[in-house]
Amino acid sequence: MPMRLRDGKENEEAAYNLPATVDPIADLDQAIADAPARIAEASSLDQLESVEGALLGKSSQVGAVRMSMGKLDPSNRPRVGAKLNEATKAIEDLLSAKRDELEAAHEERLLEDEAIDVTLEAITLPSGSLNLVQQTIDEVVDIFVGLGYKVAEGPEAELAWYNFDALNTPATHPSRWEQDTMYLDWGDPEDEVLLRTHTSPVQARWMEKNEPPVYIVVPGRCYRLDTIDATHLPVFYQIEGLAVDRDIQFGDLKGTLLHFAREFFGPQSEVRLRPHFFPFTEPSAELDVSCFNCDGGEAGCRVCGGAGWLELLGCGMVDPNVLEAVGYDPTQVSGFAFGAGPERLAMARHGINSMRHFIDNDVRFLRQF
Ligand code: PHE
Repeated sequence: MPMRLRDGKENEEAAYNLPATVDPIADLDQAIADAPARIAEASSLDQLESVEGALLGKSSQVGAVRMSMGKLDPSNRPRVGAKLNEATKAIEDLLSAKRDELEAAHEERLLEDEAIDVTLEAITLPSGSLNLVQQTIDEVVDIFVGLGYKVAEGPEAELAWYNFDALNTPATHPSRWEQDTMYLDWGDPEDEVLLRTHTSPVQARWMEKNEPPVYIVVPGRCYRLDTIDATHLPVFYQIEGLAVDRDIQFGDLKGTLLHFAREFFGPQSEVRLRPHFFPFTEPSAELDVSCFNCDGGEAGCRVCGGAGWLELLGCGMVDPNVLEAVGYDPTQVSGFAFGAGPERLAMARHGINSMRHFIDNDVRFLRQF
């Protein structure tokens, strides 16, 4: 009796002792037919190795035929031998193809598993935007550049001479008092240095250095000893405008500011001028623009509060004394000037109720613009 192993296969000894299988050719054909499915089941190189043992090893069908060759009738040997070679070759080819496939997959997996990701998620800083005040300055400057104006700038630490004297402001004018103006160097009227209280000194600085005609806009920072409230900041901005040429008249001032108002607030805008006083303009006026929200008089309008008009800026015809102070001849040239606060302009346009928003740095406010 052949010894049976647990898995039912005959062991080596048993195979030796067995007579050749009844029909070795049929066994080998069977082995060839079974091989593809058995090999396909192997999902690793280890598994493939045991499949190989099972298909070609001593206790396999093929192995059994190989072992029994010696016991075959010599006349059958060539036929069975040829079939044995064929089966062995066929199965080996399949095994080798499968081995290549598994090795490639193994390789692939290694590459994947051992790959090092050298990229690191970048730290992205949220990008902000220009503050509404700067946006407003840019827009106003653009409007005047479109009319042919140049952009001029001047120092924030200014001589009292340019801030006041050259602008026809008497030594006794209250705006010169220490409680209104921040002085860096106070006392000697000849070279008092202060933080400019408006951009108007650049009028004098520009005219001193340039011959007429003059068409300039001057954006810049200004300082006054004001306590912060809804309509005042101690550090704020202005945009000055100055036009000096032959035959400049009050109508030119009004026409220019009407153009500006319509560009900035919309084509339906109207302007009105109210008499006012500035030492450096004569006559002087304040400019109002019709409320773009209620278009002139809706009780309780959230923008103008029902007034129908929004106060915008100070302006006037350049005082002849100013032209003289810078060496111009007031009998030959005349001009107009205006000074607007971009905070005020932005508040009017966007219905902003407090100037504090411009310096609070609250992104909920800033992000809206
Ligand atoms: N400088 C004035 C102010 O600060 C504004 C102004 C400028 C008025 C030019 C008239 C002409 O209030």
